[in-house]
Amino acid sequence: PMPQIPRTGSFDSTLALLREGYDFISNRCARYGSNAFETRLMLRRVTCVTGEEAARMFYEPGRFTRRGAIPQPTLRLLQDVGSVATLDGEKHRHRKAMFLSLMTPTSVRQIGEIFINEWQRRLPQWEAKERIVLFQEIQPILCSAVARWAGTPLRGKELEARTREFAAMIDGAGSAGPRQWRGAWLRRRTERWGRRVIDEIRSGARAVPDESPAAVIARHRDLSGHPLSTSDAAVELINLLRPTFAVDRFIVFAALALVEHPDARAFVTGGENERLEAFAQEVRRYYPFFPVVGGRALEPFGWRGRGFRKGDWVLLDLYGTNHDERIWEDPNSFRPKRFLEWDNNPYSFIPQGGGDVRSNHRCPGEPITVEIIKRAIDMLANRLDYDLPPQDLSVSRSRMPAVPKSRLVITNVRPRN
Ligand code: HEM
Repeated sequence: PMPQIPRTGSFDSTLALLREGYDFISNRCARYGSNAFETRLMLRRVTCVTGEEAARMFYEPGRFTRRGAIPQPTLRLLQDVGSVATLDGEKHRHRKAMFLSLMTPTSVRQIGEIFINEWQRRLPQWEAKERIVLFQEIQPILCSAVARWAGTPLRGKELEARTREFAAMIDGAGSAGPRQWRGAWLRRRTERWGRRVIDEIRSGARAVPDESPAAVIARHRDLSGHPLSTSDAAVELINLLRPTFAVDRFIVFAALALVEHPDARAFVTGGENERLEAFAQEVRRYYPFFPVVGGRALEPFGWRGRGFRKGDWVLLDLYGTNHDERIWEDPNSFRPKRFLEWDNNPYSFIPQGGGDVRSNHRCPGEPITVEIIKRAIDMLANRLDYDLPPQDLSVSRSRMPAVPKSRLVITNVRPRN
């Protein structure tokens, strides 16, 4: 018989989760010598699972819904009601295909080029400034780039407003309290803007290129042939812009890797595509970003000798799986080289979810995420010179989403000749 899934001694683990953050699940799995355990979070029974075998169980197509699986305030900041994340079955597949249709190689290359152009356009300002807080200064660049790519360019005050709103939504997603309230408040303005944009595209008042993501979303039809409601279309437009903006954190982590791991810097000197890609993947594996994903069972199923019932809540440990010693040699070393000979197993490397992206809820945005990180690494390692003043670069693993304490300050920025 399979071993039972152990249960934590404490009645409710919510405080422990807030305290231990990214390490909450893996700490307990190590303690119990198990890839799964049961506990309560916010008073609800939950099974927490980690590792490749758990990811295979979790990403079985059709097994879990995201509805009721993520605390509502977090959902509203990250995905929104009415978005692809809240759909299941055929409806989900159909909406998901729309997102995936935006990830053609040409489209992915375009966002990379637009991003670098935006960055270069701002370089004179960077050179003129005494100090650059990378986390903050990259935000308007990314925001402007993704909006331009989507077909809805932003300027001036509008760019400032959207940048502020996206930053607050992402920052507020992992907390309860003021950071979250601020995100929720600002999100309403973003949604008003999104609805206006969709209405203008549909009425012809706003000209957008036919193949641009905003146009694709505005004319998308659901399975019964109906266009999305204005608010659902706005939600999906924002669902494209906001998470692309969130690549911000990976860029800061890439910059951190370059300063923390001098060997890693040498690895990408020369800017070969294969090496930039391996470096970007290692950034996504090594640094903490999205801690866990949650699902509620749509059907009963068995796993590890336990019967799961419809409605049971399961949390899959993304961060811990990316650091699982059974999968990764020396998981706590930053080693881009490992991705030069990686086997592409979609259940062992899951920074943005795993398995088959078309039929489950895995993130559709990985191609553009990797593209933008690669471009940023090349820029930071090979095209710019800068100094690193003394600062606190530590990354708290109990703050979700994580970011270096100092937000990474650089000084004396100049283009490399
Ligand atoms: C879903 C992470 C970038 C759009 C997800 C999920 C995670 C994730 C963990 C949930 C997976 C699941 O529920 O199983 C990230 C991270 C990113 C990122 C860490 C880096 C910044 C992007 C980008 C896009 C995007 C650039 C733009 C297209 C989405 C959408 C979903 C999603 C639409 C819902 C998919 C579905 O329910 O089928 N992402 N993502 N994400 N992401 Fe991303």
